[in-house]
Amino acid sequence: MNASPIRRCALITGGASGIGAALATRLAADGCRIVVADINADQARVVVAELPGTGHLALAMDVSSPESVEQAFENAEIEAGPVGILVNAAGVMLTERDGTPLRFWESGLARWETNMAINARGCLLTAAAYVRKRLIQPVAHGRIVLFSSVAAQTGGSKATFADYAASKAAVLGFMRAAARECAALGITVNAVSPGQIDTPMLRKNIPAGTPVDAGVIPLARFGEPADVAATIAFIVSADADFITGATFDVNGGQRMQ
Ligand SMILES: NC(=O)c1ccc[n+]([C@@H]2O[C@H](COP(=O)([O-])OP(=O)(O)OC[C@H]3O[C@@H](n4cnc5c(N)ncnc54)[C@H](O)[C@@H]3O)[C@@H](O)[C@H]2O)c1
Repeated sequence: MNASPIRRCALITGGASGIGAALATRLAADGCRIVVADINADQARVVVAELPGTGHLALAMDVSSPESVEQAFENAEIEAGPVGILVNAAGVMLTERDGTPLRFWESGLARWETNMAINARGCLLTAAAYVRKRLIQPVAHGRIVLFSSVAAQTGGSKATFADYAASKAAVLGFMRAAARECAALGITVNAVSPGQIDTPMLRKNIPAGTPVDAGVIPLARFGEPADVAATIAFIVSADADFITGATFDVNGGQRMQ
């Protein structure tokens, strides 16, 4: 008789909203124990309460803060056991100040620093915390999934995306280097690069009801959070054991704008 399979634990940053919340639902349905780690801990608890299955956990984590990331990982592993899957979905898209869209020569350093701190530094801090834990207690099929964006490839859909695009391009360089460094540890490191996905982040820039231009997105619709979640469900599965350092475009065919 086969022993029952070990239940994998997935820590999802930014899991309180949008793509991260859809992924929490998907991986919970696939049998994982989920830790939703988000700067918005109240909303993380709401998401966790609605997940299928039991044993899930909501935690406060600011991915830009070393102390917050370390503490959250500590708590996650005490309460939910070793994290096998890290998905760093937390992100911000700052393109304006007080409602005014700003080009890079008008925006100053604050917007750059915030985009970089959350979108890029957050990858370093969460991945490092994860790997340090796995060096002490290895897991089978170790996985890190990071979030880039089509904006890293195209420059973004409006002329105000420089800082965001730069932060998401930084994710790709980090991901490729981290994939090399983690290979000997049995941990794969990959990125998803979503196009325009229908979440609160998208709706800040593109109001509901805006028609989709098939010249920009050949599949002629905005993506659903579940589209990205399904791609990540594959990346974290054993079927993807031989894939590392890769970027998965989930963008309806979008290339140039
Ligand atoms: N929606 C899109 O069209 C799109 C396109 C390309 C890339 N992305 C990327 O996908 C990821 C998920 O975005 P989304 O569309 O679901 O956005 P969202 O705004 O719905 O969710 C982002 C989540 O990140 C959390 N968060 C923000 N700052 C944080 C911090 N410092 N620490 C921890 N959590 C923090 C928020 O509280 C929120 O729950 C982001 O990295 C985003 O840049 C989104």
